[in-house]
Amino acid sequence: MDYSLHQFSLSIVPWHDYLSACHLLRKPERAFTLVTFIIAAYFLSSNLYVKMVRERTFKLLTDEEYAKAFKTLKLNSDENNTIRHAIIQPIINNYAGKSIDMMSIGAGDGWLEDEIIRNPNLNINSILAIEPNHEHAEKLKDKSAKWESTNSIIDISCFDETYETSMRFDVILMVHSIYYQKFPNKAISRAKSFLRRGGVLIIAIVGKNGGHQLAARLYEQMDNVPAFCNDHLLSSGWLVNHLTNNSIRFHLQTFNCSHDVTDFIKRKKTPSCNDTITFFLNTKYESLDTDLQDEVYDMVQERVTISKDKRHLFPEDHDFIYIESV
Ligand SMILES: C[S@@+](CC[C@H](N)C(=O)[O-])C[C@H]1O[C@@H](n2cnc3c(N)ncnc32)[C@H](O)[C@@H]1O
Repeated sequence: MDYSLHQFSLSIVPWHDYLSACHLLRKPERAFTLVTFIIAAYFLSSNLYVKMVRERTFKLLTDEEYAKAFKTLKLNSDENNTIRHAIIQPIINNYAGKSIDMMSIGAGDGWLEDEIIRNPNLNINSILAIEPNHEHAEKLKDKSAKWESTNSIIDISCFDETYETSMRFDVILMVHSIYYQKFPNKAISRAKSFLRRGGVLIIAIVGKNGGHQLAARLYEQMDNVPAFCNDHLLSSGWLVNHLTNNSIRFHLQTFNCSHDVTDFIKRKKTPSCNDTITFFLNTKYESLDTDLQDEVYDMVQERVTISKDKRHLFPEDHDFIYIESV
């Protein structure tokens, strides 16, 4: 259904009703009722309209759209460097020379797992990589075909608190994938239960500044955010509270990343100009109502800094949380 405000208001007071309304107007008390009715109908119809438009426009990204937006985000961000620094080095520090069984929850296209497995200072005996997005999983499989001395299992399914495996791991990675859990607290417990004693669960999660703020603002405006929404609403604030309240010991490291959103800010009509913002919102930026588009645009513009080479950089905090199994 595609309503316009004009059509919808007219359908509330059709023409024949309008004629009998003229008749009613001769009686003052009925006229008062009618005017009240028309005003109420007007407000109702305009609220309904706004609701309908928002319901119509809020569509989660498809697998393919998600993969495209994610690819653009990665190409225009320095976050992989941060991830390398925050994840690979600590694994080397703790496990150099030892055989490691590893699990990765939400491995994406497997770039990080590939670097870990190929790292000459590490000996990855096995990897269980879970990745439900088919586009990502295909790339992950291509990489895993070259992991000759590592037993690899690519599981194209969703991890959640009911996930089963008889394997146990020294290292479990959840790199920017916790957002997609319906019950993140239970998913963390489940992941922890697969650790060997002395093993480590490493969770990468955005801090409160960055894409999380855009998603939070957008969802506040929406009437029908799906109950299970792959959003970026979860941030490290929540995770730190959860771990602290449940007496789970952890170590936290924060890094500042930035995403190049120059094409978005300059409103360049390139095929990928909105992708990074689309990724944060998990819905296509260009399909939002124009008032929401403006609001998100302003939020991005207020936050960007301009680099020496005149790029517009959107800052984001990334937190890395290390939970050891004792
Ligand atoms: C933001 S990407 C991060 C990918 C990769 N870890 C990286 O840092 O490049 C999140 C990944 O989690 C995957 N994902 C979504 N829901 C998931 C679930 N329930 N279980 C496991 N992975 C999931 C997505 O398909 C996506 O590839």
